[in-house]
This record gives sequence, C-alpha cells and structure tokens, in this order.
Amino acid sequence: MAYNLLKGKKGIIFGALNDLSIAWKVAERAVEEGAEIILSNTAMSIRMGDLNALAEKLNCKVIACDASSVEDLENLFKESMEHFGGQIDFILHSIGMSVNVRKKRPYDDLNYEYMKKTLDVSAISFHKLLQTARKLDAIRDWGSVVALSYIAAQRTFYGYNEMADAKSMLESIARSFGYIYGRDKKIRINTISQSPTITTAGQGIKGFMDLLDFSERMSPLGNATAEDCANYCIVMFSDLTKKVTMQNLFNDGGFSNVGMSWRAMNVYSTSLDDMKHNMDKIVD
Ligand SMILES: NC(=O)c1ccc[n+]([C@@H]2O[C@H](COP(=O)([O-])OP(=O)(O)OC[C@H]3O[C@@H](n4cnc5c(N)ncnc54)[C@H](O)[C@@H]3O)[C@@H](O)[C@H]2O)c1
Repeated sequence: MAYNLLKGKKGIIFGALNDLSIAWKVAERAVEEGAEIILSNTAMSIRMGDLNALAEKLNCKVIACDASSVEDLENLFKESMEHFGGQIDFILHSIGMSVNVRKKRPYDDLNYEYMKKTLDVSAISFHKLLQTARKLDAIRDWGSVVALSYIAAQRTFYGYNEMADAKSMLESIARSFGYIYGRDKKIRINTISQSPTITTAGQGIKGFMDLLDFSERMSPLGNATAEDCANYCIVMFSDLTKKVTMQNLFNDGGFSNVGMSWRAMNVYSTSLDDMKHNMDKIVD
C-alpha cells in the first residue's frame, strides 16, 4: 500500500545490483511513495547486474559512480542536481564489499591492502559521499541520509570478518557527520542495522544460511526481509522522522535484544542430546 510519503521528494539510491538487492526494493518503494529517483552503482555492476532493467521499469536515470572516488561522487551530485533542477532530499548508501571475504582470508590472516579497499568501499565511501554532498550543497535542508549496517558492528559474529570493522566505522561516521550536517543544515544521518538477508553480498558471508536460520529462531518477530528494510528506509526519508538523527536503528525483528530464545534453545539442546555419548570430545 502507498501513502504518498515521499511525494515531491528527490533521491539518489546507491547499490541496487539485482532484484535481491535491498536497494532494489527501496527504489521500488520510493517511487511507489511518489519520489523521483536516480539509481547509481559502479560501471562494472551496471554492466554485470540488472540495474538498467530497474531504471526502465521505474522510468528513472542511472548514473555510474564508484562511491570510493570523490571525482565520481562530485560528478554524480552535479549531474543529479542538474537533472532534478535543484537539491536532493534523500540518499541511500547500500554499499558493501569485502576483498578478504572474497579471497577467503580469515580474520587472523588478513591482507592489509585488501582490508584498506574494504574499508574504503564499505565505510569511508559514506564519509566521501557526505563530505562531497556538503561541499556542493547538494542536499536540501531537513534532508535524510541512510546507510545500511549489521549488528556485527557491536557484537562478534563468526564469519563476518573485516566487515565488522567496516560497519563499526560506518556507524561512527553517521554519528560524527550527523552532528555537523544536523547543526548546519538540519540534515539527518542514520544507519539501519538489518537482519541477515539473502542477497549477493549477504551470501558471501561464511555460514550465511546457518546464520539466517539462527537469527530467525532468535528474533521474536522473525528476520526482517529486504521489503521490511525498504519500508523502514521510506519512513526515514519521509517528513515523519525529522528529529531522528545520529542513530543506529535496528530493523531485526528484536534479535539485538534477545540473549537466548526458546526456538534457538530447542535446536541447541537437541544437538547436545545427540552429542551426549561423546561429551569428552567437545572442546569449544
Ligand atoms: N544482506 C544482508 O544480510 C545484509 C545485512 C545487513 C546489512 N547489509 C548491508 O546492506 C547493503 C546492501 O547489500 P545487499 O545485501 O543488498 O547486497 P548487494 O550485493 O545487492 O549490494 C551491495 C552493492 O554494493 C555495490 N558496490 C560495491 N562496491 C561499490 C563501489 N565501489 N561503489 C558503489 N557501489 C558499490 C555493489 O555493486 C552492490 O550493488 C550493504 O551495505 C550490506 O552490508 C546486508
């Protein structure tokens, strides 16, 4: 159902690769809610993925941009303002990539050149985006910027690897820049910490399907889907959340506040029963 929450607003959505992408669902919902949008991704992802099909469906422009390049960001903001005939109301940063995860390097054997690239693309790009937008005065007063995060920023999750460090930095940038942009222009900056979701990036995480199941059992409301995340983003872009800024907002079915649930305990105790005859062999 549409509520016209973004009627007349203009936004840039980064990170839709294919129809599994969270950004894909956000783009569809934003247009449904009356927004005019520009879609962006790297030139390579545009070539390899399905972004042009989405743009055709939503009747919107695509501008290629490597979010770790300040030059590309400058060009994107200038072209977007020209296209819209003015400033931008909202931006979604839905960008993540870990080179060490791709190359299967464990956290205690990281390649630091790869790590620099991971941090640059997954976290520092958020600072670059905000700093470039501010220098060009590209975002309208009371605008809204959202980046997507994961709870591994605060707690250790086996297999999440260096992305945990990237997400911690991402959330910190939202707070630090949120202060400056809020004070000067009333622009709000938040991160949404999303449940594990089956997407191209998500499936790169070691043990992802087990994590998805664990998280589903632990969350009283179940995992939040990409569609749930899109709905939350829309509310954050709308005028209904004008005083929410510098926050990390959990969209996770309650997972972040559960220590142990009945459904997860059930699986845990069942496998313990299976192992009872063998207890002396359990070492971790
Ligand atoms: N899927 C999950 O389980 C999950 C959970 C919590 C948070 N997130 C976060 O959601 C965001 C979106 O990921 P997704 O799960 O939709 O996967 P996805 O693979 O569909 O999206 C990741 C996007 O990042 C883009 N990207 C990579 N390098 C880039 C660069 N240099 N410049 C611009 N774009 C670049 C990719 O092209 C891709 O479109 C990421 O920040 C991810 O960490 C995902």
